[in-house]
Amino acid sequence: MKSKLAIAVILFGWVIFITYILAEYREYGSGMFKHIFTLDSSSMALFNRVFILTAPIGSGIVGYLINERKKLLEKTQLSEKQIEHAAREWRATFDSMPYGIMLIDSEFNVSRANSYMANLSGIPVKELVLDKKYYETIHKSDAPIDGCPLVKSVKTQSTETLEYYDSGLDKYFRAIVTPVFREKNTPGAYVYLLIDITDTKEKETKLTQAKDAFFNMLKDLDVMYKEQKDIYNNLVIAFSNVIDAKSPWTKNHSRNVTAYAVTIAREMGLREQDIEIIRTAGLLHDIGKIGTYDVILDKPDKLTDEEFALVKKHTVKGEEILKPIKGLENILPMIRSHHERIDGTGYPDGLKGEKIPFFAKILCVADAYDSIISERPYRSAPGKDYAISELK
Ligand SMILES: [Fe+2]
Repeated sequence: MKSKLAIAVILFGWVIFITYILAEYREYGSGMFKHIFTLDSSSMALFNRVFILTAPIGSGIVGYLINERKKLLEKTQLSEKQIEHAAREWRATFDSMPYGIMLIDSEFNVSRANSYMANLSGIPVKELVLDKKYYETIHKSDAPIDGCPLVKSVKTQSTETLEYYDSGLDKYFRAIVTPVFREKNTPGAYVYLLIDITDTKEKETKLTQAKDAFFNMLKDLDVMYKEQKDIYNNLVIAFSNVIDAKSPWTKNHSRNVTAYAVTIAREMGLREQDIEIIRTAGLLHDIGKIGTYDVILDKPDKLTDEEFALVKKHTVKGEEILKPIKGLENILPMIRSHHERIDGTGYPDGLKGEKIPFFAKILCVADAYDSIISERPYRSAPGKDYAISELK
């Protein structure tokens, strides 16, 4: 829109010009041009005449300048409004952030702080931006706190973070400081973010407590499992002692067979869990002899066929005794087959070669070795070399 003042100035210029022309015409009629352009007038009259004749041009220029000035003024006012609007938006955004924000210079003075920061610290924004160091208001201390991220950021010129506990507010915070570079490599200020992480920390603590409780429970279970295992092992040893005690000639037999079988298994590189199976089977391999008459086991002379037939039953009886016990299923084939022989002359099933369970073969060798080197009522101990040659 054109400036009214500019229009008025232009019109004024034309009014002067037209009035002058009309006055000349009235006085000189058709001779007015001759009068206007006659140069015999006084210098003052000549100046007035030139001024009046050029009034439309002069008023046009002045009007144009006034109009341009008005446009410039309008533009400036618009820019100021836009800046004011942007500042209001920025302030609203700044205040709506879900964490505290401060702008701090390298001397630690706060130049801006949002409402959240004020609520968080319990200090009004106006007081935060007073001529005070940020640590005087935020940390209520005379110097930056240990590990202060602002001190670090001033040194490193990069983002620095610190988690800390504020005992005064009884809250945990995460402080993040980032330099704002106004010129190349020269930070103009530092953005200081302060996030309340108390809830997260409490959840983390509860999670750690739950984890510790779970691990303690696992430890208790482990202790209970070991206690159960000890009871189980002691029971197995007690059973083997009962078997070995039936005859003075079989004293420590089960324990010795177990030691030999475990040594063989270890030498063959078997897994520890398989060695455990062999150990249990070794201790219980003759449990079927519980039902065999002591007189037969103690007999100083060679057994009759009938007596030997009774002794041979201990493999099957042993399997029957242990069958109902849960967890001992894997040793049953060893109990039943520990008297089988590669050539099929063993008992109770006369199995041959690969048909004999592998672990039963180990037990068979250990059992045979201990039987050969032991004293018997009907013979003296023949020695280890003889035993080894017999086995071969
Ligand atoms: Fe046996």
